[in-house]
Amino acid sequence: MDNMRTAAGSTDRRIDKLIHLLVRNAMVVVPGPKIAAEIGVTRFTVHHWIERLRALGLEIRGVPMEGYQLAAIPDILVPSLVRAELGDAAIGREIVHYFRIGSTNAVALNLAAEGADHGTVVVAEEQTAGRGRLGRAWFSEKSSGIYASIILRPPLSPAAAPVLTLMAGLAAHKAVSAATGLTVDIRWPNDLLVNGRKVCGILTEMSAELDRLHAVVLGIGINVNHSLMPPELENIATSLRMEAHRAISRIQVLAALLRELDRHYQLLLKSGNKAITERWEAASTFAHGKRVRVVTATGEALVTTAGVDPSGALKIQYDDGRTECLMAGEVVEVK
Ligand code: BTN
Repeated sequence: MDNMRTAAGSTDRRIDKLIHLLVRNAMVVVPGPKIAAEIGVTRFTVHHWIERLRALGLEIRGVPMEGYQLAAIPDILVPSLVRAELGDAAIGREIVHYFRIGSTNAVALNLAAEGADHGTVVVAEEQTAGRGRLGRAWFSEKSSGIYASIILRPPLSPAAAPVLTLMAGLAAHKAVSAATGLTVDIRWPNDLLVNGRKVCGILTEMSAELDRLHAVVLGIGINVNHSLMPPELENIATSLRMEAHRAISRIQVLAALLRELDRHYQLLLKSGNKAITERWEAASTFAHGKRVRVVTATGEALVTTAGVDPSGALKIQYDDGRTECLMAGEVVEVK
């Protein structure tokens, strides 16, 4: 069996071990038989897998009669490399990796229905059917972005869904700012913007009863190393690399994201909604006094923002003075 995937399509754990072994020994040539013995496959399979990994962009030197050596540390989101950057927090304890998948959210919802633990993360190098909010698609170029879905099992009611969504945006804001040094804004409910263009979107999906959440899936897409955006997106979206003018480590951004998610989730459970919404307001220029067009299922209006309610709703003020709480919809800045 020399396919790099399990029957379910996720990356074979032995591939993870192979990459980890090469990274651990990055300065030395590791003999093929040693690799074969350590990961439990034949030498032929090692050779075949190394070829496949090279085709995926990993720079692996082959030294005749000696073995293999990494020429550069790969920025690939396999569990062992990401977990090495995490502590013992629940979020990220289990990571399921795909080279290619339709949608990590679809996989995570299935895993959640099968009983996956709180904190399980599904991550892919490429999505062929990435899902965005409001029925849109999410552009998921291979090895350029972070496409991750995190399963949470909050002891909360479905009414907590909006604040969980804000919590995810806030955690992503902290992670992206810290990992890049860029100035990042949050557009309600949880788009991250750099210089007015979107770098991160979050799609929250869930399974619930009337009074109890079974599982929440936070689907997070971050444009990290795209060197350009497709023409239809170039006016509204950008990547961290395009803004920072340097390549950014996807591993560092994903690890920071998972650490911040764990921290903000604990904060929400311990201190309640306001601890999240107050921090969200401090991080977003959209919270107060921003002139925006709101688009909802029932229509559009020009309004001014007036803070975020502890429930996670955006407070808006119409020009005639009326105020309202927006629970769902889209917000676009009007200049
Ligand atoms: C948005 O429209 O702003 C939300 C985009 C969410 C995209 C992410 S990528 C990982 C996860 N899997 C999906 O299919 N969608 C989310």
